[in-house]
Amino acid sequence: MQVLVLLLWMGALLGYGNSQNVANNPEGSPAAPDSTGEPVEEEDPFFKVPVNKLAAAVSNFGYDLYRMRSSASPAANVLLSPLSVATALSALSLGAEQRTESVIHRALYYDLISNPDIHGTYKELLATVTAPEKNLKSASRIVFERKLRIKSSFVAPLEKSYGTRPRILTGNPRMDLQEINNWVQAQMKGKIARSTREMPSDVSILLLGVAYFKGQWVTKFDSRETSLQDFHLDEERTAKVPMMSDPKAILRYGLDSDLNCKIAQLLLTGSMSIIFFLPLTATQNLTMIEESLTSEFIHDIDRELKTVQAVLTIPKLKLSYEGQVTKSLQEMKLQSLFESPDFSKITGKPVKLTEVEHRAGFEWNEEGAGNSPNPSLQPARLTFPLDYHLNRPFIFVLRDTDTGALLFIGKILDPRGT
Ligand SMILES: *[C@@H]1O[C@H](CO)[C@@H](O)[C@H](O)[C@H]1NC(C)=O
Repeated sequence: MQVLVLLLWMGALLGYGNSQNVANNPEGSPAAPDSTGEPVEEEDPFFKVPVNKLAAAVSNFGYDLYRMRSSASPAANVLLSPLSVATALSALSLGAEQRTESVIHRALYYDLISNPDIHGTYKELLATVTAPEKNLKSASRIVFERKLRIKSSFVAPLEKSYGTRPRILTGNPRMDLQEINNWVQAQMKGKIARSTREMPSDVSILLLGVAYFKGQWVTKFDSRETSLQDFHLDEERTAKVPMMSDPKAILRYGLDSDLNCKIAQLLLTGSMSIIFFLPLTATQNLTMIEESLTSEFIHDIDRELKTVQAVLTIPKLKLSYEGQVTKSLQEMKLQSLFESPDFSKITGKPVKLTEVEHRAGFEWNEEGAGNSPNPSLQPARLTFPLDYHLNRPFIFVLRDTDTGALLFIGKILDPRGT
C-alpha cells in the first residue's frame, strides 16, 4: 500500500504518468489474481537468491533491534550496525540445541527461510559485504567464561562459516579487557577508539559485534561549498553545524505522503548507498518512519525512487557508539537465552548469555570518487526546482546494493555527535 502511494506521489510530483512508473517495474506485469479474486503477491526474484533472502532476514532483525534502541533513547542519536550483532547471534546458534536454536532462528527470521545451509550462505553474505571495495569493517566474536572447556565440534563450524574463534576469559579483568581491546583494534585497523569501560563481571557468554564505515560518495562534494549552517534540532532549537552542499546534486528521490517524509538516496562507491528519511517538519518523533522499516520496504524504495537533480545540503557526520544492546535483545523474544538456554553443543556445563556489546564508528565527509555524476544517471526533467536539506532530524540506512543487506542505521537528532 505504502509503496503505491509513494509511486503516485512521485508521479504527481515529477509530472509523470502512472503508466510510466509501471513500465519501470522490472517484472512488468501486475500480480495475478488467485481463485478468490485477491491479487497474490509474487515474491520478488531478488529475494529468491539465497544470499539476498538471508540478508533480508538478518536485516529485518536489524530493524527490530534499531526500533528497540531508538525507543529506549527517544532524545538521543542512535548509531547501530545490526549485522555485527546478528552475526554473533547466528554464530552462537551453532552451539544451541533445538529449543534454543529455534529461539535465535525466530529472532533472525530464519524460520521464514527454507535454506538447509544457512551458515554456509551466511559466509557468502559476510564475504560480499566485507569485500575491500565496500569500505565496511565488521567483526563478531563469542567470549566465554574462564576455564570453560569447549567442544571442538562447535569450534570447527564456527571458524568455517563465521571466520571467528571463540575466546575464553582468563579471569583477570585488566588482561581480559586489554585482549578484547587489542582484538577490536586489529579487526577495525585502529579506526575505533580503545574502550574505557570496565570488563563486565560474571560473564558466562559475551557476544561482541563491532563495525566501522567511512563512506566514499560516487560524486564528491566541493569542500569550498561547506559552511556552518543551522540544523533544526526540533521546532524551537537550532545548532550551527558544518553542512556540505551541492547546488546541482544528482540523487534518487521520492515523497512518501503516508510517512510525511522526503526520501532520498545517495550512491556510494562499492555498490552501496545511503537512503535518507527526512520528515517534512522538524521533529524528534520519527516513530512512524521507524515502524515502517523492513527489508522489503527498503527494497521497494530502492526500486521506485526517481533520479532527479536537486539543491542538496547534508551535515558532515562522524559518530561513534560503545555500549550494550543486552536489554534491547532481551525485549526481542530472546529473554530465554539469558535464563536457561541449552548450549550443550558448546560445552557440558550450563552456560547462558549474559552480555551483548556493540561498538561502532561511522563517518562521511566531502570525500568521493569523482568530480561529476555518472553520465548514465539521467535526471528526470522537473518543472520546478527541488531542494533536499538534511537540516533537521533524519534517519539514514546504509544498504549494500548487491545483497540488499542493512549495514548501518542511524537516527540523527543532532549531527554534532553522540
Ligand atoms: C510520536 O508519533 C506517533 C505517531 O505519529 C504517536 O503515536 C506518538 O504518540 C508520538 N510520540 C510522542 C512521544 O510524542
